[in-house]
Amino acid sequence: NWPNTVKVVEVGPRDGLQNEPTNVPTDVKVDLISRLVDAGIKEIETTSFVSAKWVPQMGDNREVMKTLTRAPGVNYVALVPNLKGLESAETVQTETIALFLAASESFSRKNTNCSIEESKERARAVLERARAVGMRVRGYVSCICGCPYEGKIEPQKVAQIAKFLYEEGCYEVSLGDTIGTGTPASIAAVLAEVTKYVPADKLALHCHNTYGQALPNIFMGLQMGVNVFDSSVGGLGGCPYAKGASGNVATEDLVYMLHGMGIETGVDLNKIVSTAHFICSTLGKQPQSNVSKALPRL
Ligand code: HMG
Ligand code: MG
Repeated sequence: NWPNTVKVVEVGPRDGLQNEPTNVPTDVKVDLISRLVDAGIKEIETTSFVSAKWVPQMGDNREVMKTLTRAPGVNYVALVPNLKGLESAETVQTETIALFLAASESFSRKNTNCSIEESKERARAVLERARAVGMRVRGYVSCICGCPYEGKIEPQKVAQIAKFLYEEGCYEVSLGDTIGTGTPASIAAVLAEVTKYVPADKLALHCHNTYGQALPNIFMGLQMGVNVFDSSVGGLGGCPYAKGASGNVATEDLVYMLHGMGIETGVDLNKIVSTAHFICSTLGKQPQSNVSKALPRL
């Protein structure tokens, strides 16, 4: 019981790089984005309009957006935390933004220097302005299973933030297992609660793979009606304000599983694997995925 097609949202250029200590040159980021699009990715997070004091790696956000070549039919998404970020995004023709809120009070403060209530106020202001200028807005809820500061998070808290984002106009709400502590049981509990307010076909799962649970968690999501999954080429990723969290599920591992289940993604697995080698060799590391080790390097 699973869908025929799935949308893969590639978060490598943003989540994948934001935690890297050495600044990646803008032209490498733009090359990465164009290789991913060439591999068939139709929705991709390119950068984030956050403070460079908080996340130096994203300091070239405007240059990335100005330099990349937009391919038809591809949705380029940039993260925005507040009106200031939205204003910069607007100056470089960003069409889609993603707001990021958290189900944990402590994580909200550590990551965005404000309470959950304040983050909702910021979100309302951003959504209002985005509507006025015709930008689409995606929403994120972080810490859906656990928080690096508070431990377990109750599904009701997740559902309240997801409901808020959906009712305020986000076209999709991505549920982030930020530190990867979820298992299929906790993911099922979160989805059961969230789908009381947001239809499953408006949800995405964003699984970090810290404990190796991302694919089983995604499989649970598929069975519960979710058909959008975030992933990062080479399994890169992590949040600077969630210490100990490792990368996102690798795009190549996700795509391998989906194709094996007869689910279409439009993504070319071999091209993703070579892109994983390309970006990881630039970073001086090995891709964190089983598929990149199993498949021959083309
Ligand atoms: P703040 O310090 O409280 O901001 O940071 P402020 O409003 O007090 O302003 C202080 C200074 O920052 C001012 O400059 C502002 O202009 C500037 P100054 O006058 O001192 O020169 N400023 C900005 N500059 C650039 N862009 C902006 C911006 N806003 C203010 N947008 C803020 C608040 C939200 C900006 C900060 O906490 C921040 O940037 N946080 C972002 C942290 C981040 O990027 N985390 C990673 C992304 S979320 C994630 O990874 C999770 C996810 O993957 C899902 C999951 O896995 O769960 C999405
Ligand atoms: Mg993340």
